[in-house]
Amino acid sequence: MSYLETTRNLYREAALTPNVGLCCSTNPVWELPGLKIPKIMQEMNYGCGTTVHPRDLAQNPRILYVGVGGGMELLQFSYFNRKPAGVIGVDNVEEMLEASQKNLEEAENQNPWFKKEFVSLEMGDALNLPVEDESIDVAAQNCLFNIFKAEDLKKAVEEMYRVLKPGGKLVMSDPTCEQPMNKVLRNNEKLRALCLSGSLPIKDYIKALTDAGFGTVELRARKPYRILDPKNYPTEQLIFIESIEVVAIKDPVPTDGPCIFTGKTVIYYGEEPYFDDKNGHILINNQPLSVCDKTATQLKKLGRNDIYISASSFNYNGGGCC
Ligand SMILES: C[S@@+](CC[C@H](N)C(=O)[O-])C[C@H]1O[C@@H](n2cnc3c(N)ncnc32)[C@H](O)[C@@H]1O
Repeated sequence: MSYLETTRNLYREAALTPNVGLCCSTNPVWELPGLKIPKIMQEMNYGCGTTVHPRDLAQNPRILYVGVGGGMELLQFSYFNRKPAGVIGVDNVEEMLEASQKNLEEAENQNPWFKKEFVSLEMGDALNLPVEDESIDVAAQNCLFNIFKAEDLKKAVEEMYRVLKPGGKLVMSDPTCEQPMNKVLRNNEKLRALCLSGSLPIKDYIKALTDAGFGTVELRARKPYRILDPKNYPTEQLIFIESIEVVAIKDPVPTDGPCIFTGKTVIYYGEEPYFDDKNGHILINNQPLSVCDKTATQLKKLGRNDIYISASSFNYNGGGCC
C-alpha cells in the first residue's frame, strides 16, 4: 500500500469518527458577524492554521478548496462570496465528502444567509484536479500538502498553479520543521498522514512554490505546532514542529528572482526627508516599509548606517515594497 492510500484510509476513519486531536492547533475559530460554525465542524477541524484571510476575498472570488475535512473553511470562505458553487471543495475520500456535505446542511440550519448550494463538493485528487485551467481566483489547502513526498508535492503545487487565473492566490497552512528528521520518521506512513513527519523547512516549502512559477510569496504566520519526543516517537532527538500560513501569488517572477515576504521591515533614519535606492524603493524618513527578503538583502549590501533592517517577523500583513 502506498503512503497516499494510507492517507486516504486515515481520513476515511477521521470522516466516520471525528478525531478532535488530529492536526488541529489552538487557532481561534473565525466566527464573524452572522457566521455560526456548527460544533461538528469544529470537532472535525483538521487544519493547522487558517487559510481564510478577508483581505484576499474582497472581489467576490471563485474559490477552490482542496482537502475539505469537516467543511469549516468551506463555510468560512462561502461567507465572503455567497453564490451557488462560489466555493468548490475537492477531496479524494468519499466519506469525507459525505461528512462535509452533512455538516454544511447543519450549517444551513444555523446560518440564515447560507445555502448548501454555495459549496460544490467534488471527488478528485490534489495531484490531478478536476478543475479547468485558469478558472480560480483563490485556491486553498490546509494541512494536506505537508503529507506529500517531494514528487507529489511538486505535482500538487503545479496543479494549483495551473487552475489559478493570472494574479490568483494560493493560500495555505501547513506544518514545517527546521530540524532534520530520520528516515524511520519520514517513512512512517501513518505519522506522515497525521501531518507529523512530512514537514519541510520553510525555505524548501517556499522553493516548491517558486519552482512552480509563483512570483510572490507571503509568510503570514508562524507558530509552534507539535513536539516529537524520543519517548513517544522513533527519534533520538526532540523535534519541534511549527505551522505556517503562506500565500503564493501567480504573478510573473521578476528577472532578479521571486519576491518572498517574511515580515522584514526597513526604516531610513538619515539626514534627508527620504532615501531613494533607485531600484523602485523610496524610504520616507523614519517610516517603516515592509520589504521582501531580496530587497532587504540589496539594501543591506549598500552598507549604510542610516537604514535599519529588521529580522523576519513571519507575520507579513501586506503593503510591501513590490
Ligand atoms: C489534514 S486533513 C485537512 C482537512 C481540512 N483542510 C481542514 O483544515 O480541516 C486532509 C484532507 O485532505 C484530504 N485528502 C487526503 N489526500 C488527498 C488527496 N490526494 N487529494 C485530495 N484530498 C486529499 C483528506 O480526506 C482530508 O479531508
